[in-house]
Amino acid sequence: MSPRLAPRFATLPTYPNAHVPARKRELIARGVDVIDLGAGDADLAPPPAAVEALKRAADDPKMSRYGFGLGLPAYREAVARWMERRFGLRFDPYTEIVPLIGSKEGIAHLAMAFVSAGDVAVIPEPGYLAYLGGTLLGEGTACTVALRPERDFLIEPDDVPPHVLERTRILYLNYPNNPTAAIAPLKYLQRVVARCRELDILLVYDNAYSELAYDGYRPPSIFEVDGAGDVAIEFHSLSKTYNMTGWRCGWAVARPAIASALAKVKTFVDTGAFMAVQAAGVAALESWAEWVPQNVATFRERRDAAAAAFCEAGFPCTTPRAAMYLWCPLPGGLASGEFADRALEEEGVVVLPGSSLGRGGEGFFRVSFITSPDRLREAAARCGRLLRRMRQEAA
Ligand SMILES: Cc1ncc(COP(=O)(O)O)c(C=O)c1O
Repeated sequence: MSPRLAPRFATLPTYPNAHVPARKRELIARGVDVIDLGAGDADLAPPPAAVEALKRAADDPKMSRYGFGLGLPAYREAVARWMERRFGLRFDPYTEIVPLIGSKEGIAHLAMAFVSAGDVAVIPEPGYLAYLGGTLLGEGTACTVALRPERDFLIEPDDVPPHVLERTRILYLNYPNNPTAAIAPLKYLQRVVARCRELDILLVYDNAYSELAYDGYRPPSIFEVDGAGDVAIEFHSLSKTYNMTGWRCGWAVARPAIASALAKVKTFVDTGAFMAVQAAGVAALESWAEWVPQNVATFRERRDAAAAAFCEAGFPCTTPRAAMYLWCPLPGGLASGEFADRALEEEGVVVLPGSSLGRGGEGFFRVSFITSPDRLREAAARCGRLLRRMRQEAA
């Protein structure tokens, strides 16, 4: 006998690549040279200034106390300064910024304030699973819309049937996009903001990759669009920009009515991030101008190596202008789940099958730029070898 689970628990799918860490350990123990390109979790070091700030703060007993919702005032103020420097937008550090324990928890918790049973959230598919998780745990209904290459991986509120749109409370958007690396033109964002205002839909704009952009491209904030303040909340993260995935540090920004709803939910589920990490976050944000460009250059080198090598290996992918992913089409209708399983078992390469991010991701797999150009090239060659084998088997 075991305690009965809530029905909503059964609606959660298996999290992508959940089985990989255990299987990877077994393969490594058997002597397999595993190249892991699965998670968006680079092997690079965070800014030295952040590490130093963490060490200093950890020595201060005050930092070991609860941060509560307020957190470290200096962190809120550093975020507000950064938003102004980066996007030219002013936000009140105390009423319009919500410190987060990584942006994922904020994204997932937000639905609890805005969705109730019967309400719909529109979710891009493939997409980051926190949108679906938050919606389902909030007992909302998920309406997925496929991101397709022929539409530049953009979706519109009106892709949803009118009777569903009527019940839609949230639209999740993420550009630069995980996993497709697509970017959003400003005209598109203007159109979506206008429609969300007409329909009174909360626009959740996930900007986790705002700083990983190449070839002169500068991703915008949703708040650069007139009127977005009425309907939008934007999520930011130190994870990707500063190679600080494990530190769990991010923020949400929105006008007070929206920001305070998320902050209130959080008062019931957490007691704030470790304040020493927030002190390190201040140092990271302040190192943006000197430190981030060389980090982006490292990702650009990896992107160039990966795009060339995976194309040559038989996967006709486009070179992304942002984020840290290559979205590789699988030729000949091969199933992405089988390809990813065999890539690990037969070639020791971890990739993310598109189907694990929703049905709309089938036919693709995702490669993350989380290791050196040489290892990316080696992984591409191994994937190419597997592709040739699978095609021969299918012939
Ligand atoms: C699109 C997107 N949003 C948000 C996150 C969450 O980042 P974190 O919780 O580390 O801030 C990720 C991480 O992979 C992501 O890909």
